[in-house]
Amino acid sequence: MNFELKQLDLIGAADEKADVMVLLVPKDFKPGKDGLSLLVSGAIKSGDLEATAGKCLSLYRPLQAAATRLIVAQVADGSARSVRTAVLAALTAGKSPNLKKLVVCFAQVAKEESVRAAVHAVADATYAYTTTKSKPTPRVLSKVIIGLANPADVTPVFERAVATVAGVELAKEWANRPANHATPQLLGEAAQALAGRAKISCELLGPKEVAKLGMGSFMAVAQGSDQPLRFIVLRYNGAAKSKAPTVLVGKGITFDSGGISIKPAGDMDEMKFDMSGAASVLGTFKTLSLLKPAINVVGLIPACENLINGKAVKPGDVVTSMSGQTIEILNTDAEGRLVLCDALTYAERFKPRAVVDIATLTGACVVALGAVRSGMFSGDDELAAGLASAGERAQDLCWRMPLDDEYAEGLKSNFADMANIAGRTGGAITAAKFLQRFTEKFAWAHLDIAGSAWKSGAQKGATGRPVGLLVEFLLGQPLDK
Ligand code: BES
Ligand code: MN
Ligand code: ZN
Repeated sequence: MNFELKQLDLIGAADEKADVMVLLVPKDFKPGKDGLSLLVSGAIKSGDLEATAGKCLSLYRPLQAAATRLIVAQVADGSARSVRTAVLAALTAGKSPNLKKLVVCFAQVAKEESVRAAVHAVADATYAYTTTKSKPTPRVLSKVIIGLANPADVTPVFERAVATVAGVELAKEWANRPANHATPQLLGEAAQALAGRAKISCELLGPKEVAKLGMGSFMAVAQGSDQPLRFIVLRYNGAAKSKAPTVLVGKGITFDSGGISIKPAGDMDEMKFDMSGAASVLGTFKTLSLLKPAINVVGLIPACENLINGKAVKPGDVVTSMSGQTIEILNTDAEGRLVLCDALTYAERFKPRAVVDIATLTGACVVALGAVRSGMFSGDDELAAGLASAGERAQDLCWRMPLDDEYAEGLKSNFADMANIAGRTGGAITAAKFLQRFTEKFAWAHLDIAGSAWKSGAQKGATGRPVGLLVEFLLGQPLDK
């Protein structure tokens, strides 16, 4: 799918050939004397295009435009959210097997965040998963023109949005793949495929190397599966070696059965998405490879299955993490923190400016925040503010959660330095408190994406979040620190 930014006023838009043209109209639309203007102002006057974002009017072979189908869509206040709503609604109305060329045209001067929202919404609405279908119906849309009166104002944001969409789609692809098509080894190969591109290198560690590093906690999760674990180390070097990198750590549980503390059967298939954090790291690196910013980034992915065989870790087993701290595994289903803690310790060697882990960590986070916002945890106010504002800019929202020490009390163990679970309440926070014990040497934040990384039900599928947030966060940070 090729995106192009083009200068178009309504007169130009009328001449633009397309299978579908979406014309985004604000509630304070100021008509000119051209045919499209008259059509739109007539529709508004007659009450057929209400001033609510997402209201659409569809026309076939209209006299006023060269496009085969014209969808006039209301963007009300013109905010990023309204543009997203309008584009999604218009493309639902304009769904067609013949949609090869699409024009999305702003009928008013467009803001940066609105252009970004339009690019993301077009990609979301037309995404198609095909990898494991025998008769795939891939996306036929090949050309998308974003038309507006002021392209020069928004070119950098447009280019960033197009590169981010490519990262989001790589994240969707890997998160959507079933676990037998996305094993730890295959995830490792996906990371390797990114290397060799501009400024990216990749190192894959297997069971032997991980044992040598002393990652006893990660190994405890992996030991119940016949698939060998992988520890993936990605590096993006866009700046001088002396610049401290930001480290992204993605939870890469390619399938989470719960282990001996097994999960109920209903919806267990969705635990193929338990490597969405890892997928978001891969996606972010894809975007970095396209934008080539002058920063350094490290991506760490502990990848394994949480399964059950004769060697599987048992409730009550005590393991020694790479940090030296011992952990009593009271619940084998709280495995994400067990793989992440060793990756966090590994992150120390990069002397990072900040470490952000991304994980489908707790059902409790889904209860707390639903699918709208990811949970964000950090003891560092500056880092927390940076992530929150990146989320706002990308419209990939998160919400800061507390980390009071009292929440850690339930992690006490009679047989180890800590247990891997606390009581029933505040589960997203107690999980974060567990991770925090492995982050003393750097500024750290944790994103719990259990609710935001995928959709259930008829729309079941990965969302590609929080690639948008991560890209904005990485590119938004000052370089001179
Ligand atoms: N991968 C799950 C978290 C999850 C559950 C994400 C449901 C999305 C939907 C994680 O490994 C897990 O099982 N967490 C447990 C922790 C508990 C045992 C303390 C949970 O949330 O139930
Ligand atoms: Mn689990
Ligand atoms: Zn899990």
